[in-house]
Amino acid sequence: MNNKFKSIPVKSSEITPYSQYLSRRDFLKAAGIVTGSALLAACAPGVTESGVPEDESPVGPTSNQTDEFGDPVNSFNDITNYNNYYEFSTNKEAVAPLSKDFTTSPWTVEVYGMVNNPKTYAIEDILKNFTQEERIYRLRCVEAWSMVIPWTGFPLASLLKEVEPTSTAQYVRFETVYRPEEMKGQGSPFYPWPYQEGLRLDEAMNDLTILATGLYGLPMPNPNGAPIRLVVPWKYGFKSIKSIVKIELTDERPQTLWNTVGPTEYGFYSNVNPDRPHPRWSQATERRIGEFSRRPTLMFNGYSEQVAHMYADMDLNLYY
Ligand code: MTE
Repeated sequence: MNNKFKSIPVKSSEITPYSQYLSRRDFLKAAGIVTGSALLAACAPGVTESGVPEDESPVGPTSNQTDEFGDPVNSFNDITNYNNYYEFSTNKEAVAPLSKDFTTSPWTVEVYGMVNNPKTYAIEDILKNFTQEERIYRLRCVEAWSMVIPWTGFPLASLLKEVEPTSTAQYVRFETVYRPEEMKGQGSPFYPWPYQEGLRLDEAMNDLTILATGLYGLPMPNPNGAPIRLVVPWKYGFKSIKSIVKIELTDERPQTLWNTVGPTEYGFYSNVNPDRPHPRWSQATERRIGEFSRRPTLMFNGYSEQVAHMYADMDLNLYY
């Protein structure tokens, strides 16, 4: 493992269930104690270790971690209250309240298609069987904003190795849960629900590609795709599909929600590329949430060393 990515193993037993964390916060708030990281100090390496009630943060845990460029992680509040999750709302600030009561347990992920060992995993088994580690990654949205997020998760490759893709498998297709009664956005006729995404098999096997089960040392908050979502840090954020229930190995390039809606705007690859403008806006710079001035966008979102070799034969302006 390349320690550039600040990969820190995290035992799943050390992670406080999110609901427990929230209810303890509510309790302490009701008791007049403003809380934050103290509840997490024992569960997340790197999360600031200040005691109750020293931490004055009204909005959750704090962290002084940085990415490998020395840029600080975004606040827990920013990460969990400014979200793209169209199943709940197209308004980023509305996702958190609307997803508050979303049911994430029981949860299973079915892995099937061109594999020797198809398997349906309960989320508990995923947490137990795959060593969870922390990965601090930049997330760059195609809308030209970005964040640095301390995810908890594990390489997708570990799960794929367990199900053994056959020699004919070339792509991996991912599907979000379809539950319109709980996700009102899925009533919108403008999108082909459920949300789908896809990767080439070598992209899926790349060590940077993770299935994330948490952030800030906590189980995945609902607005960020609880209980399990994909994170592909060198691609625009829409490739990182949330709340996954199906993973299919196939020899056909998967249809994706955004490519279906806007084939000329959202390519299958969608690697972060400052030199290729989106038809409606430039991708040369971005606004890091929490900062005022814009910063230049980096090719492959700064991960060229790890991923550029996969595209050596491709014209990335053509295969966007
Ligand atoms: N996954 C699903 N199922 N639905 C969505 O609307 N939005 C995508 C991606 N995954 C989306 C999704 C987009 S556009 C972005 S930028 C990221 O999630 C945002 O992730 P975040 O809210 O955790 O920052």
